[in-house]
Amino acid sequence: MLKRILTGDRPTGQLHIGHYFGALTDRVALQDKFETYVLIADVQALTDNFNHPEIVRQNVLEVALDNLAVGIDPTKSTFAIQSLIPEIAELTVFYSNLVTISRLQQNPTVKSEIKEKQLLFKNSVTYGFLGYPVSQAADITIFEADLVPVGADQLPQLEQTREIVRKFNQIYGLILKEPQARLSNFPRIKGLDGNKKMSKSLANAIYLADNPKVIQEKVMSAVTDPAKVRLRDKGRPEVCTAYDYHKMFSGDELRTITQECRAGNRGCVFCKEQLSQNINTKLAPIREKRQSFASQPKTVKEMLLSGTAKARSVAQKTMLRVKESMLLVYP
Ligand code: TRP
Repeated sequence: MLKRILTGDRPTGQLHIGHYFGALTDRVALQDKFETYVLIADVQALTDNFNHPEIVRQNVLEVALDNLAVGIDPTKSTFAIQSLIPEIAELTVFYSNLVTISRLQQNPTVKSEIKEKQLLFKNSVTYGFLGYPVSQAADITIFEADLVPVGADQLPQLEQTREIVRKFNQIYGLILKEPQARLSNFPRIKGLDGNKKMSKSLANAIYLADNPKVIQEKVMSAVTDPAKVRLRDKGRPEVCTAYDYHKMFSGDELRTITQECRAGNRGCVFCKEQLSQNINTKLAPIREKRQSFASQPKTVKEMLLSGTAKARSVAQKTMLRVKESMLLVYP
């Protein structure tokens, strides 16, 4: 039997090139070797968008389109919409007894996210947001996933999941599967503003769906070496965001780019024009595929719903065993 993979995206915005290199390319390769479930985590997305349900609703489709566009194949992978599998919420409630508040408060990823969301949470975070790793543990274990491909920021979530599973198994004597993290080895791609993280909330992202003109404008705005003012100034590629992207998009040209920049033989405008062309060459087929799926919303919707139905039946089987072990099955 094939090992099972569970991956998830929060539908809070379209996916960008950071997702592409960090997760999506790996995800596409893995679907041939594993039984893959792609969870569109709308319930988790609501933990920090509870006041904007329309954003979450709209982005369920956008995230599905992005996955399809990069090559997630619905005949190989199963898409599932989290809110349509209420068993996940049920399991979350059971798991919440097995996690202490202080343990949740120690999660470094959640801690920094709370800081980033000052505007939303002011000086007191919600129960739902603090607890989202518990619901993520339910996402992962209800599908009995063996492997969870993640970026480094999600490792604390996986560790918490494993702790919950061990505690559950110890108390209720049921053997829930302890999932393993599968760390993607791609470095995080910088934001256009030079921030070490590309993200929607920082408004520094290039989206998979961006058209050539938008790509061009965004690349032109990318932060470069501040000490390189004139064409003939020697540049420091290591502090240049455009160079960071060249590494991902410019293949064999990278050597020349590096040499010319260091030697002061390359202007930033020319360099960025070349970059935006390379990005566009890479994204054009993805964008076309995305548009073609976007023009068949009914087909995409049916695919999401049939995937969800399949995923739900897996979840229901797990829940039956969970409830038996917790003495919650009533005749
Ligand atoms: N927390 C993940 C993120 O922010 C999304 C996610 C939700 C997820 N459920 C998951 C990832 C289950 C892996 C497994 O990107």
